Amino acid sequence: MTLSTMKRYEKFADEIAESIRNGVLAPGERVPSVRHASRTYGVSPSTVFQAYYLLEDRGLIQARARSGYFVREHAKHPLHEPESPVERGPRQAQTTEVDVSELVFSVLGSLKNPATVPFGSAFPSPYLFPLARLARSMAQSVRDMPPQAVIADMTAGNPDLRRQIALRYMVAGVRLPMDELVITNGAMEALNLCLQSVTRPGDLVAIEAPAFYATLQVLERLKLKAVEIPVHPREGIDLESLADSLQRLPIKACWFMSSLQNPLGASMSEDKKRALYELLHGHQVPLIEDDVYAELYYGTQPPKPVKSFDRDGLVMHCGSFSKSLAPGYRVGWVAGGRYAEQISRLKLMTTISPSVPAQAAIADYLQHGGYDRHLRKLRHALEMQQGAMLASAARHFPASTRVTRPTGGYFLWFEFPERVDSLQLFQLALAQGISLAPGPIFSATRRFGNCARLNHGHPWDAGSERAMETLGLILATF
Ligand SMILES: Cc1ncc(COP(=O)(O)O)c(C=O)c1O
Repeated sequence: MTLSTMKRYEKFADEIAESIRNGVLAPGERVPSVRHASRTYGVSPSTVFQAYYLLEDRGLIQARARSGYFVREHAKHPLHEPESPVERGPRQAQTTEVDVSELVFSVLGSLKNPATVPFGSAFPSPYLFPLARLARSMAQSVRDMPPQAVIADMTAGNPDLRRQIALRYMVAGVRLPMDELVITNGAMEALNLCLQSVTRPGDLVAIEAPAFYATLQVLERLKLKAVEIPVHPREGIDLESLADSLQRLPIKACWFMSSLQNPLGASMSEDKKRALYELLHGHQVPLIEDDVYAELYYGTQPPKPVKSFDRDGLVMHCGSFSKSLAPGYRVGWVAGGRYAEQISRLKLMTTISPSVPAQAAIADYLQHGGYDRHLRKLRHALEMQQGAMLASAARHFPASTRVTRPTGGYFLWFEFPERVDSLQLFQLALAQGISLAPGPIFSATRRFGNCARLNHGHPWDAGSERAMETLGLILATF
């Protein structure tokens, strides 16, 4: 959210939050009454009320019957952030055959029961998406579709959709020729096609550690070997380790997330993204940039992708509407650089095209549906829910637990005390109706055994709070 679009009550809530953080308002202390705050700060009582509701949602204050609002006990003492794995792990990356699918499928299977608290899910709540408005776009666009488009849009993709995507790149400062864009069945297909375009079975691919588990499954399926590069929880990929691996090993491609990395939430600075590009350019190793969370930043500016520094088509930038607008429509894309033609051919040889009506619906929505307004609301909801989960974790989890502070998205990565076995934690939590994503599914070498990724993409309620409390009780048994 930009400062200018921030509402008065949000600004006031931030001021109170800062007073809590810097200790002016101590844990257990009463925050100014609505009447007092309204008079002192020159804001309306309803602004104060809204701000206090917001702070309550963020888990910073709580109401006590007939006494007003009080600072919560843990509001000032959040859990620490994890250290860099680089500081503790081996510096030299090894090559690894990948074999994680069974583990991943057993975790995904656990999410099928709708009664389970979905902390292990990869998606935000469906109620955060404008599905009714999208349905109208679907009906309208299919009604208006020229008959020839039903066939023609299969190969190149819906021209309006391609133009809308190119426009969004342009607004974000990335100039992109439209013929680089290949529309795909979600980002997953885009990522698969990119990898197939630049590798053969047995090749080495540099991936992140920890990495999105599907990355590992794709490598496994294509019989590629992983070179795991450590990721700093805040700053992203360790460039020194990558440089060392590029020097020593015949790496054929890199598959990285430079912003809001899954599962850590790390975002690289612009300087670091530029340095990454220059490093890869020096070795002429292509980058497959997975940027599916690009729209879910909490700050004022969208993070720039590495693609924005690409001079000669070395970067394949993959995006999707699955996480920000239309899960299940299966519409994603890749800006394929110098590999676009090859990617497009591979697509024609495998799935031909994503559904033409789904493409048309999203194109219509982007033009007329108010995507940016929806995104602002979505980002705000996710940021509030992050605050609520962080505060809840501080209340219920062991004090030595560490947790990331991503600047967007809807995942938190928890590093529990060493004695915690997150696969066991996963089983014990599931028995209590709570899912989570245990650390080892994010690693080709089954590392991160004391870590887990938790999803805060669902509206926070008493059930979420109870689930965190239950997790805390299970954690205490290790
Ligand atoms: C990091 C990452 N990349 C790619 C995908 C796949 O995106 P899509 O649903 O568009 O295929 C996901 C979905 O979970 C993801 O988390």
